[in-house]
Amino acid sequence: MNKDVIIIGASGHGKVIADIVKKSSDKVIGFLDDDLSKNGVIGKIDDCIKHKDVYFIVAIGDNKTRKMIAEKYIIKYYTAIHPTAVIAEDVIIDDGTVVMANAVINPSAKIGRHCIINTGAIVEHGNQIADYVHVSPNATLCGTVTVGEGTHIGAGAVVNHNIEIGSNITIGAGATVVKNIDKPGVYVGVPTRELK
Ligand SMILES: CC(C)(COP(=O)(O)OP(=O)(O)OC[C@H]1O[C@@H](n2cnc3c(N)ncnc32)[C@H](O)[C@@H]1OP(=O)(O)O)[C@@H](O)C(=O)NCCC(=O)NCCS
Repeated sequence: MNKDVIIIGASGHGKVIADIVKKSSDKVIGFLDDDLSKNGVIGKIDDCIKHKDVYFIVAIGDNKTRKMIAEKYIIKYYTAIHPTAVIAEDVIIDDGTVVMANAVINPSAKIGRHCIINTGAIVEHGNQIADYVHVSPNATLCGTVTVGEGTHIGAGAVVNHNIEIGSNITIGAGATVVKNIDKPGVYVGVPTRELK
């Protein structure tokens, strides 16, 4: 059965998710955003509890903000998967996550709640991705990588196989991660170093 979907967050990321919802033959009812002047906004975020029989997805790129909103409201969350994403049969993807165009998720990977697997990202076999993670466009996570809650992998970054990255870590665009990282912080470069 087709679903009615309300998107929380009406900026560019929200528009991309709206496109995925429509391509999945579901219906976008509108956007909720505290800035009512944005295009397509039908109410403030707090209004979500007034809507019955609809699904919601939090379209906010910042991992902490997305978590704060997702945990505040007891509502049904939608999982958005672009029809061009290639996802192996046994992959588990939890509620509220978006998988964008041309992303690839290979066998035995597990993706948590409210994650963003962005355009063209590659999540290889056996990856364990916790909740509220963002894997940016064209980032590559090689086989059996683990990524902790709230971590952001920047655009085009590469994470070598078997690497463990902890929670609340930012990996800069274009970085290459060759050693485990557990201390929260920002890491850039090839190979990565902590940005002080
Ligand atoms: C790593 C990052 C978070 C740092 O942001 P920031 O804290 O605002 O850092 P600044 O831009 O002030 O830069 C600080 C220093 O780090 C360097 N730097 C910043 N990002 C870098 C990167 N990705 N790789 C290498 N060096 C980087 C800057 O050149 C600067 O160096 P300097 O002090 O010698 O001049 C950010 O640059 C980044 O890469 N974000 C990921 C963006 C992304 O992938 N978005 C996807 C959205 S879909």
